[in-house]
Amino acid sequence: MVQAMTGKLTVIGLGPGNADQLTREADVALQTADVIFGYQPYIDRVPLRAGQRREASDNRQEVDRASRALSEAARGAHAAVVSGGDPGVFAMAAAVCEALEHGPAAWRDLELSIVPGVTSMLAVAARVGAPLGHDFCAMSLSDNLKPWSVIERRLQAAAAAGFVMALYNPISRARPWQLDRAFETLREHLPGTTVVVFGRAVGRPDERIQLTTLAAAKGAEADMATCIIVGSTETRILTRPNQPTLVYTPRSLAAASA
Ligand SMILES: C[S@@+](CC[C@H](N)C(=O)[O-])C[C@H]1O[C@@H](n2cnc3c(N)ncnc32)[C@H](O)[C@@H]1O
Repeated sequence: MVQAMTGKLTVIGLGPGNADQLTREADVALQTADVIFGYQPYIDRVPLRAGQRREASDNRQEVDRASRALSEAARGAHAAVVSGGDPGVFAMAAAVCEALEHGPAAWRDLELSIVPGVTSMLAVAARVGAPLGHDFCAMSLSDNLKPWSVIERRLQAAAAAGFVMALYNPISRARPWQLDRAFETLREHLPGTTVVVFGRAVGRPDERIQLTTLAAAKGAEADMATCIIVGSTETRILTRPNQPTLVYTPRSLAAASA
């Protein structure tokens, strides 16, 4: 008789950084795990309860981390893997699926649950108004896992299609020129007046929100903790005399611009 595996793996989204933006479901899942795997800064955000273990690993070791968590679960533990934001957005849920697909067949019998989190683009959007109020897309600008030529083609297509864009992983020490190249590419397809929002470390004490235009946008304004929202031609700025400026994209598309 084949013995059912008793361990399980939960992939948990921690939200963008503010404890108030951790969902109740994520909080409960964190408390019930025996061992928590994650990138060190995310692990540091999780209060450790008595008897719980944690294992931090480097940023680039996602599939290895996923495999170690799956191995723990296969040994009968309740393992958890944490991600910033939502685990399904450029994060650990896909890495776990990759490890499952290529790992031992027995891992496929494990109970797996994914607990969603507030992803960065939603946290940034909420800070400024409703820039994602109409159709939008999300892209990672990292060319570690796909060629830069594909990124440029997708930026051009998204701009031509009229999508608002949320750009994740905009820049890093190893990828210093790509963001400025992305802005250049977008300037060829969108007016210089297009609204751009830089949302840095949203929900953390060092949060910074900056509004600018595509003509003025510079890569140096961003870092690895920044999520950038590039508006469509419909996205507008609403100034209010005594309240912060709002950025929003109306829900309906004017027939003239369709
Ligand atoms: C590997 S991706 C992970 C995304 C994450 N799973 C999510 O749902 O937000 C890392 C990127 O997310 C964005 N990011 C993560 N935390 C952020 C925050 N607090 N504020 C703004 N952007 C953030 C940045 O673009 C960063 O380069």
